[in-house]
Amino acid sequence: MAQLTVPLCNAGSKMYVNNRGKNMRTPIIAGNWKLNKTIGEALELAKTLQQGLPTTKFEIVVAPSYIAINKVADFLKNSPIKVSAQDMFWEDTGAFTGTVSAPMIKDAGAKYVIIGHSERRQFFSETDETVNKKIKAALKHDLTPIFCVGETLAEREAGKINAVITTQLDGGLRDLTANDLAKIVVAYEPVWAIGTGKTATPEQAEEVHVLIRETLAKKFGDTANKVSILYGGSVKPSNSKELLSKPNIDGALVGGASLKAEDFLGIIKNA
Ligand code: 13P
Repeated sequence: MAQLTVPLCNAGSKMYVNNRGKNMRTPIIAGNWKLNKTIGEALELAKTLQQGLPTTKFEIVVAPSYIAINKVADFLKNSPIKVSAQDMFWEDTGAFTGTVSAPMIKDAGAKYVIIGHSERRQFFSETDETVNKKIKAALKHDLTPIFCVGETLAEREAGKINAVITTQLDGGLRDLTANDLAKIVVAYEPVWAIGTGKTATPEQAEEVHVLIRETLAKKFGDTANKVSILYGGSVKPSNSKELLSKPNIDGALVGGASLKAEDFLGIIKNA
């Protein structure tokens, strides 16, 4: 596989390749349950996580399917574990069959919402423009967007990482202010590492996290230093510690390994 060669901005890199900024950011470990778990199974998993949760500085988040959000959030209401939706529509109400809005997921108990996941982009025609509308709607309703970006293998091999990531960031964050950015979490999920067992090396991931932070800094100034940037793509207990030790990796967005309490708790313990 081609090595990543992101032309980093030298003046900026010095600012971001140290660990100082990390204290300014909320560390987060989030589990994206995707199209898995019935309501009963989701509740079971939430219970096991709650029982086994170690003391941690990380904010722990789980993202069940829409129909399980309410039950899971109700069960976790006195727990430090927060609940996220996996997507939402940008309108609040109206004739939009099959969609769910920010006020609805908030009412169900969600605090976060994943927006622009590569699976939404790939299978459900999500674009940077719709991602932008959803981020704005989430912010309007005080939901924290977990805004996903990431390149495919073909884009990586064609040396387009820089272009792809900056285009996704520019499009997704269009018209937003630094104040808005301070309320957003970014997740870097290289598409080739999702569900494939191929994790980006901590160095490969850190390099793109620095690129993301520098791109945000160019647009929004020092607020970029306050944005938590999570890594996602085959994170598991055996690789999470090394990934999370990098200065610009502030947490993880976990798919497969978040479906088993033992693995997800293992990632939290190792962190
Ligand atoms: P995996 O951890 O299964 O690779 O999935 C990552 C992901 O897509 C989280 O949103």
